[in-house]
Amino acid sequence: MTTGDLFADQEHADDARIVLGPASFVLRGFALADAPALLCAVEAIVERAAFRHMVTPGGLEMSVALTNSGSLGWTSDRRGYRYTTHDPLTSQPWPPLPDVLVRLAHRAAAEAGFPSFTPDACLINRYVPGSRLSLHQDRDEQDYGAPIVSVSLGMPAMFLWGGHKRADKTQRVPLFHGDVVVWGGSDRLRYHGVAPLKEHAHPLLGTQRINLTFRKAG
Ligand code: SIN
Ligand code: FE2
Repeated sequence: MTTGDLFADQEHADDARIVLGPASFVLRGFALADAPALLCAVEAIVERAAFRHMVTPGGLEMSVALTNSGSLGWTSDRRGYRYTTHDPLTSQPWPPLPDVLVRLAHRAAAEAGFPSFTPDACLINRYVPGSRLSLHQDRDEQDYGAPIVSVSLGMPAMFLWGGHKRADKTQRVPLFHGDVVVWGGSDRLRYHGVAPLKEHAHPLLGTQRINLTFRKAG
C-alpha cells in the first residue's frame, strides 16, 4: 500500500469520527442504517409511556418533551432530578429497553473505546423548533465509569460541548440524523446542552428531533 492510500484512509476516519476530548467523540452517521428500526421502537415505547414536559426543581417547564425506556427512567419535578423504576404518569414500570436500542448503544460505545457498556436507561428527548436544553452535567447516575451514548434523529441541532465548569467556553458541534456522541472517562462530567432548534424539516420526522441518551444509571 502506498503512503497516499494510507493518508486517504486516515482522512476518511477523521471525517467519520470527530474528537471532542480525550474520551469523547462524535461518530458521524453511526446510527444511520438503524434509524428506521430505532424510530419504530421509539413509537412503541411512546404508546406506553407518552412524551411529557417535566418541570425543573426551579419550577420551570422544560421545552424538550421526555420519556424513558429501561429498568430506570430519568425524571424531574419540583423535588429534584432522579431515576425511578416506574413512570410517575401511569405508575407502570418504564417500557423495557428493546434489543435494537441496546445493541446500537453497545456498538457505539465500543467504537469509542468503551467495550463493556450495558445501558439500563434510555432517556428519549423530543425537540421541536425553539426547544433547547440548557448547559448541564449528567450526574444523577450511580456509576460515572460508564459512558453516555447519545443518538440524534430527525432535525439537526447545535450541540454545545463545554468543560468541567459551567462557565467554561463551549464548542458548537452540529449534529445530524444518525450521528452518535459518546462521552466517558475523564470527559464523563463535561457540561453540555443544545441550542434552540431552528426549523429544518427532516424527511422522516418532519419538524422534530428525537434524541436517545443511553446511560448506566443504577
Ligand atoms: C441530553 O443531554 O440529555 C441530550 C443531548 C441532546 O439532545 O443531544
Ligand atoms: Fe445530558
